[in-house]
Amino acid sequence: MRILITGGAGALGSSLKKVFKNAYCPTRKEMDVTSARSVNKAVLKYNPDVLIHAAALVGIRECEENKEKAWLTNVEGTQNIVNALRKLNNNCYLIYMSTACVFAGEQEKYYAEDDIPGPKNYYSLTKLCGELVARQYTNTCIIRTNFAPKSQWKYPKAFVDRYGTYLFSDNVAEGILDVVKKKPRGIIHIVGSKRMSMYELALLVGSKNTGKMTLQEYQGPPLTVDMSLSTKEWKKYQIK
Ligand SMILES: NC(=O)c1ccc[n+]([C@@H]2O[C@H](COP(=O)([O-])OP(=O)(O)OC[C@H]3O[C@@H](n4cnc5c(N)ncnc54)[C@H](OP(=O)(O)O)[C@@H]3O)[C@@H](O)[C@H]2O)c1
Repeated sequence: MRILITGGAGALGSSLKKVFKNAYCPTRKEMDVTSARSVNKAVLKYNPDVLIHAAALVGIRECEENKEKAWLTNVEGTQNIVNALRKLNNNCYLIYMSTACVFAGEQEKYYAEDDIPGPKNYYSLTKLCGELVARQYTNTCIIRTNFAPKSQWKYPKAFVDRYGTYLFSDNVAEGILDVVKKKPRGIIHIVGSKRMSMYELALLVGSKNTGKMTLQEYQGPPLTVDMSLSTKEWKKYQIK
């Protein structure tokens, strides 16, 4: 099976590379998703059976401050991939990586696949629009998830009052392997079985020196407070 992964140098991409050892993971230079020409060239040349689209602009603040770049990367970038797959015309299976942040997350609700999204910021909006674009292509699975790399907690502090059913990126990559084996279409939530705060997640990563912070101290774009997901379509995973 020929597998192409976009965003292979990112947090999830690094975990995906461990699971899909023979996958082709073009660099941004080799396949810039914002350029239709670059995407066509890479996709038509490699001729994948499966394309895992994990490249995105993910910084909430960066997306808010640079809306044009966020739209170009997350929405038009996905459109470029869909267009290239249509040209390829081999029924390649597309996985579009989406996020728990497409939901409003104003309460502890455990959103399922068929719940109505309500993005709180521009990043989440572009990811939701990317889902709509991906759905133009029939042989597609949209995966919503939420994760952190097990290796390090990137920030000096973590919220004690923002929650999710988090996994480590390695666990998500294993989940994506399960998906690739079965090739379901539609929306799937790859979620952990336990709801926890971001601070608890940071401790699990092993960052004992991470400070605590609350949403009251936070200044910036609106955030999804509770990113907890459930699933009606897939199994749950253990964070480990
Ligand atoms: N992190 C989370 O908690 C989370 C949760 C749910 C869903 N997701 C989704 O999962 C996916 C991966 O997230 P992540 O946390 O692994 O992100 P990440 O570490 O920031 O990696 C993003 C990757 O996208 C690449 N990229 C950005 N713009 C590009 C472009 N124009 N052309 C080609 N590649 C480009 C980056 O390339 P460079 O290395 O060249 O910068 C990087 O390799 C994203 O779709 C994200 O929305 C993330």
